[in-house]
Amino acid sequence: MVEPVRKAVFPVGGLGTRFLPATKAVAKEMLPVIDKPLIQYTVEEAQASGIEQFIFVTGRGKSSIEKHFDHAVELGTSPAEQAKARALKAVSDWLPEPGRVSYTIQPEPLGLGHAVWCARELVGDEPFAVVLTDDLVLSPIPCLKQLLDVYQEKGGNVVAVEDVPKDQTHRYGILDVAGDDGRVAEIKGLVEKPKPEEAPSTLSIIGRYILQPQVFRYLDRHQRGAGGEIQLTDAMASMIGDFPFHGLRFEGRRFDCGSKIGFLEASVAYALERDDLRDDVLRFLRSMV
Ligand code: UTP
Repeated sequence: MVEPVRKAVFPVGGLGTRFLPATKAVAKEMLPVIDKPLIQYTVEEAQASGIEQFIFVTGRGKSSIEKHFDHAVELGTSPAEQAKARALKAVSDWLPEPGRVSYTIQPEPLGLGHAVWCARELVGDEPFAVVLTDDLVLSPIPCLKQLLDVYQEKGGNVVAVEDVPKDQTHRYGILDVAGDDGRVAEIKGLVEKPKPEEAPSTLSIIGRYILQPQVFRYLDRHQRGAGGEIQLTDAMASMIGDFPFHGLRFEGRRFDCGSKIGFLEASVAYALERDDLRDDVLRFLRSMV
């Protein structure tokens, strides 16, 4: 029996420099794909996977995220504002119950590992998920649920992985694989952003993780890795040998919404999934090409 995963950490302390000037005053996680901010897609995925507690690690200028998770709406009494309040109420049934959302601050963006470390007191001594809002995954079964199913079977740490082109390995955390059945890979090593000629494989980690709380012991050391940042990959790599560690080739399509092209692709793909938009979007796309 493995210990259940009840909590998910959403590190949202990054600066989002690739989306400047849009992210000068607006948190990257609040950028909408169609009519929903990125953060809401990933929270809904976590909810659909059975997560009960949502922990946001925020940074400077991210107060709009807290407002998005607020049940109360600060609107005036004019008919227009009242109509907006009613419309908002109608689309608010996804909000986690009061008491299920917590925030903590990452004072400086020192890296993803540091952001996760900032959540240690809120996570406590239990396994937890980490969800990066940059990665949207369009799939029939929520990506995090797929990971949790593997975790039920294997325990330890489980990460979502996908194959990337060989010349792109320098952008990702890459696996060194001990065994692979084509779906689940047993991990014997991890390298953060290796050059293509040094990459042990082309399997890269994407933004969904199930981690054992012992990861905090490694993160406590605050060791800097690639790019001078405190890397989550390095902490996970230090745990290899002490815990089972697997990578799942999830079913679904992942969009890197931290990049401009990924964000655009997600907007088109999600629009094509929607009955109210599909025909119009198809017509438009055909006219453009
Ligand atoms: P990125 O590497 O995409 O960094 O972080 P970023 O700052 O968000 O964006 P760019 O590269 O400047 O455009 C991946 C994820 O890790 C979080 C980010 O918020 C994002 O969800 N992160 C990164 C933190 O929470 N804190 C950090 O110090 C770094």
